[in-house]
Amino acid sequence: MMSKVLYIKANAKPEGASRTFKISDSFIEAYKESHPDDEVITLDLYKENIGFLSEDDIAHHNVEPGAHRDHPVLKYAYQFLEADKYVFSAPFWNLSFPAILKAYLDYVMVSGITFKYTSQGPVGLCHGKKAIHFVTRGGEYSEPPLSNFEMGDRYLRIILGFLGIQDFKTFAVERIDRSATDTAILVAEKSQEASELAIDF
Ligand SMILES: Cc1cc2nc3c(=O)[nH]c(=O)nc-3n(C[C@H](O)[C@H](O)[C@H](O)COP(=O)(O)O)c2cc1C
Repeated sequence: MMSKVLYIKANAKPEGASRTFKISDSFIEAYKESHPDDEVITLDLYKENIGFLSEDDIAHHNVEPGAHRDHPVLKYAYQFLEADKYVFSAPFWNLSFPAILKAYLDYVMVSGITFKYTSQGPVGLCHGKKAIHFVTRGGEYSEPPLSNFEMGDRYLRIILGFLGIQDFKTFAVERIDRSATDTAILVAEKSQEASELAIDF
């Protein structure tokens, strides 16, 4: 069955300059080769000019379950719901991901579209989907105690779980801000590893 992949990129640095994008782009290229019938939609959040939810946006940011509302503020939530797989690519900034990704998620999280409220509490509406998060970090945050300071990957994992997406993988590359030579080797190795992962994604 044909799948729709949403490739969500969150970095002020463009292609060519971003190590994170280099690694995730390798994954996407290999994915396209191994899944020629799938549709890959690239959503570069800086190019999209994602802003912060405004007062007016909030007023339209709610849909009766089962109803369809046509309002520009809802476009990212509907686009997210229509996808089967998500590829997030974001550098580690100040113990989390860049703020533009949080701003985007504020548009995706719409009750009546991506989740709903029930008498038992909120329930996700994005079941049966899967996600991978590509992140590069200057330092090392994968082992305790510093792993407690990693709030970007954890936030993404938890909020996607809230939407019903339990299949969530992290592809983290750490200590990337070493000497330029080491970094080039590390990025090349990790790009290769990422492209091998794409075949079974
Ligand atoms: C604004 C900013 C904040 C950062 N904060 C952290 C941080 O808290 N911890 C860390 O290990 N690296 C931090 N870094 C380093 C980046 O995580 C690292 O350079 C990353 O590989 C950048 O990826 P890129 O080449 O795709 O931009 C920060 C970099 C920037 C630009």
